[in-house]
Amino acid sequence: MEINALALARALHVVGVVLWIGGVAMVTTVLLPATRRLKSGAEQVAFFDKIEQGFARQARYTTLLTGLTGFYMLAAMHAWARYHQAQYWWVPAMTAVWAIFTLMLFVLEPLVLHKWFQQKATQNPEETFRLIQRLHWVLLTLSLITVLGAVSGAHGWLLPV
Ligand code: HEM
Repeated sequence: MEINALALARALHVVGVVLWIGGVAMVTTVLLPATRRLKSGAEQVAFFDKIEQGFARQARYTTLLTGLTGFYMLAAMHAWARYHQAQYWWVPAMTAVWAIFTLMLFVLEPLVLHKWFQQKATQNPEETFRLIQRLHWVLLTLSLITVLGAVSGAHGWLLPV
């Protein structure tokens, strides 16, 4: 049996997306609300930090897998022109979602955000967790719109332009 590299890349791409965006959905809809229900600020910070750190570690691998397989597919399909074709809006959208998370996970979180979170959340847990939850909702919504566009677009349902 011959290996179909493009199909394999697509399958791995989707596995990466499922683990990564699924994790973001879990953090947004289950972990953050549960954290905010804990009584003391100190408990909230410790609980969220421990679990989010574990997820952030995983997400570094899954964003890497998604990016590598995504760029591989664009190269294998000679599809770089999609970056400036309106009906393929979901290709720049995928890349933008990926770039935002990559920047957050590999640069901002280790260098700035972790320290900022510890400080802010200890001073004012309620306001800090409200802000974090709002940001997670924005990222989750953008990711899900992108998934809707990518699956329908990849299977032939393109905008009529
Ligand atoms: C560097 C970033 C990325 C690149 C270069 C990229 C590229 C691609 C390419 C070339 C395809 C195949 C399109 C086709 O068959 O016509 C694809 C499919 C797909 N991508 Fe991405 N992608 C990236 C990130 C993402 C992200 C962040 C998400 C989720 C939010 C995502 C979700 C999907 C989905 C759901 C499909 C459809 C799979 C299918 O049904 O066949 N991708 N991507």
